[in-house]
This record gives sequence, structure tokens and C-alpha cells, in this order.
Amino acid sequence: MSALTQSLSRVRYAAAQGARVAWYLSQYRLARRLSGPFTPPGEREFQPKSPPGSPGRIRAAFLDLFAQDRLNIEAGLYPAPRDVDPAKLTQAIANSRRFFDDLPKVDARRLARNGVEVRQSNEVAGRYPAYYLQNFHYQTGGWLTPESAKLYDTQVEILFGGAADAMRRIAIGSLARAIRGKDQRSLRLLDVACGNGRFLAQTLEAFPRLKVTGVDLSPAYVEEAKRRLAEASHAELVVGEAEKLPFEDASFDAVTCIYLFHELPPKVRKAVAREIARVVKPGGVAVLADSLQTGDSVDLDRMLEYFPVGFHEPFYSSYLNEDLGALFGAAGLEQDEVRLAFLTKVMRFRKT
Ligand SMILES: C[S@@+](CC[C@H](N)C(=O)[O-])C[C@H]1O[C@@H](n2cnc3c(N)ncnc32)[C@H](O)[C@@H]1O
Repeated sequence: MSALTQSLSRVRYAAAQGARVAWYLSQYRLARRLSGPFTPPGEREFQPKSPPGSPGRIRAAFLDLFAQDRLNIEAGLYPAPRDVDPAKLTQAIANSRRFFDDLPKVDARRLARNGVEVRQSNEVAGRYPAYYLQNFHYQTGGWLTPESAKLYDTQVEILFGGAADAMRRIAIGSLARAIRGKDQRSLRLLDVACGNGRFLAQTLEAFPRLKVTGVDLSPAYVEEAKRRLAEASHAELVVGEAEKLPFEDASFDAVTCIYLFHELPPKVRKAVAREIARVVKPGGVAVLADSLQTGDSVDLDRMLEYFPVGFHEPFYSSYLNEDLGALFGAAGLEQDEVRLAFLTKVMRFRKT
């Protein structure tokens, strides 16, 4: 790449990501203003153990995420994102409207501290494990409705100030370093808890010929993922439990799992780690991306502590102290890479 081409791509990257961050951060600020002071029951009694982080160092961690993302693009690990596109503005505005229409319902649940509204529906009783039947983040419909599956990406981007996709891409970088140079057509990748397919879509941008499978417990999210990946004829999407993966032993070269573990009770985390280890081939990798944990980045510890107070996250506090290296080690996987990406930690494990 010539110096001029590189400078131009850097300017393009900065302009696109800057616009994206401004778009989502402004919605975050508006949502905070509309929701009024964040004083749900519980928050008033919030007595943090961690000192507040330095605003300068929090900003630096945010900017470092985009610096890592840009370096990964320049290293050819994945292409520059193409989602900042004037042709997509109408869709972005529609998503934003949907978010603000839903916000009062989220706030009502937050103020009432009602994180299990989803259990009131008779349709779901007995069909899902109890830990799953929750309105995580107080979201409307929990994981179970088509509306929730459509709204999810916008909610997450607004919550993370436009950084969510970039944080997921750091996991693609880790995967790319492991499979680079191999014939992607011969590799099978499984994304556990694939949700509405956003991460798989990003992965296919980087590895269009990889044979990918996504599994998630939510039929509504799997449907949305099927819609999103309709053009990828070699993508398979199935409904299933992460703790009982419907796949043969040693059937995948790589397994990814993005933002699942913080939403699982400790016992289930152990079972899912075992299942991931079971389905990876010897020599294969598992890439996990999830929330930072206590002590990973001291300036962000206070934000981590606050998260389960402001949002319904019943298993998050125990997740913060889970030793993931030991958890996967006990399941037979060895940790071989860690990257911190703002509020996300990407860990790669290998099966020897
Ligand atoms: C926070 S979302 C993450 C989705 C996606 N990986 C992403 O990056 O946006 C958590 C997802 O985990 C799924 N999930 C939760 N528990 C599960 C389980 N036991 N088995 C399979 N999927 C599960 C939910 O349905 C939801 O789609």
C-alpha cells in the first residue's frame, strides 16, 4: 500500500467511524435525557468499591479500540466496514425511531426493577431454562420476540456509543490470526449464541467462503439471522442450547462466542465451556469475546460495577470474577491470546 493510499484509507476510516460514533453517542445522550435521572430502586444505594476511572484514560481506552481496529484492517485481517453509507440512512433513522418508541417501556421496567416480565407469557413457560427467561437490560420481549431481534443491534450500539461492531471485529482479528493462510472453504466455524447474526455477517465479510453455522436458543433471533444471511447459501442457522450443542464431537475448526458468558449462571458457564471444547477439533481454536472483568482495566472497573445496577444483568457480578482461563482450561482448552478492546475482552483458546 502506498503512503498516499494508506493516508486516504485512514481519513476514510476516521470519517466513517467518527460519524458512526457521533450518531450513536448523540442518541445515548438523548436517551439519558429522556429517561430523566437514572435513579431506579437500588441505584440510590449503589456503593461502588472501585474508584471512578479517569475520564482521560476512559477516552483513551475508547480511542485505542478504533486504533486496534484500523491496524487490523491495515494488516489485512478483515476489510474496512462498509456500513456507514448514505444509502442506509433511512434504515438508520427507522431503527432510531424504533429505539425511542420502545424506550419508555424499558424505563418502566427499569424503575419497577422488573427483569422477568417475559415469564408472564404462558407460551414460553417450560420451554426454556429459567435463567434465560429474563428481560436482560430490561429489554422488551427478552430474547423471544421478532421485535427484540430487530431492535437489538441499535440498542447495543447506543449503549456502547457506536463501539459495539468495532469491539466484535477485534474478535475477528483474533480468529483471522489463527486461520490465516488456510483454505477457508475447507474450514467450519460455529458461532455459539449467534443472536441475530451480526457477528457472522461481519465474519463473512472477512471470510466469504468459510462454512459457518450459528446456533442460538431464540427462534426469533435465529429467524432474523436467517434473513440477514439469506444470501450466504453456505451459512446454516439452528435453534439450540449452548450447553447441549447439537453437533458431533470435534466437528468445527473454530468456535466463536460473543457476549454470552456474562448472561449465564456460573454452572451453565461451565457446561457451555465444556461443550465448546467438545465440538472444536484438535488444533482448532475457540474465540470468546465478552465483557471486561474486574481488574482488566482499573479505570473501567467502576463502569463494570455499575452495569448490573442500572441494567438487568442477574449473572454479571459473578461473571466479573470468573476465571475464564481456568474454566476453559478445565474443559481442555489452552489460552493463547488476550486482547482488551474498550469494554470487551477477546480471549482465544486452542485445543491441543
Ligand atoms: C447478548 S446476546 C449476544 C448475541 C450475539 N452473539 C452478538 O454478538 O450480538 C446473547 C445471545 O445469547 C443467546 N443465548 C442465551 N443463552 C443461551 C443458551 N443457553 N444457548 C444458546 N443461546 C443462548 C440469546 O438468545 C442471545 O441471542
